[in-house]
Amino acid sequence: MRRITMVLSVALAVVLCACAGNKSQQESQQSNNENMEKKTTLVAYFSATGTTKAAAEKLAQVVDADLHEIQPEQPYTDADLDWHNQQSRSSVEMKDKSSRPAIKNKVENMDQYTTVYIGYPIWWYIAPTIINTFVEQYNLEGKTVIPFFTSGGSEAGETMKYLTPSAPKANWKAPINLTGKSQNEIEKLVK
Ligand SMILES: Cc1cc2nc3c(=O)[nH]c(=O)nc-3n(C[C@H](O)[C@H](O)[C@H](O)COP(=O)(O)O)c2cc1C
Repeated sequence: MRRITMVLSVALAVVLCACAGNKSQQESQQSNNENMEKKTTLVAYFSATGTTKAAAEKLAQVVDADLHEIQPEQPYTDADLDWHNQQSRSSVEMKDKSSRPAIKNKVENMDQYTTVYIGYPIWWYIAPTIINTFVEQYNLEGKTVIPFFTSGGSEAGETMKYLTPSAPKANWKAPINLTGKSQNEIEKLVK
């Protein structure tokens, strides 16, 4: 009887050890998967009327990136966007290159990304100053930063002149015009 008990105890110990081993294997596999799922590319964008948002969504698919919408603390109304009116919010902000419209949300894990695409509509031939607010919120040193935009017809204009001083140590690339581009066209452009 004593021998049987001993044999059973040993068998139980072997089973428990095997289970524990499996569990820690599973845990390490799970943490591997979590690490693998962390993307290293971010597509961040500001869009007042949805055009840049649509482009950003396609771009994020193409480059397999996380997507982040830059949300103004105070959303832009139609009246704010009236470029015929010298007194409209966008006209006033864009005349003052040091204006920094507040942003209500943040990228919590910016350290995770090595490449950051930043999208915006062209306003008065450059990026809206809320993009400077965004860029100045983070340490982009050493990251590859690629601006992209949509517009009513303008090219990037003096975008870089006003944007790069907001993150002088980032590795800036030339802005990409995504106006009216399909996902296939974006794929070719990005390559
Ligand atoms: C205040 C303001 C200024 C703009 N300035 C320009 C401009 O200088 N050149 C241009 O081609 N389009 C200009 N546009 C048009 C936008 O760039 C274009 O409609 C863009 O695709 C809108 O993107 P969104 O829908 O993501 O906001 C301007 C639009 C606004 C509201």
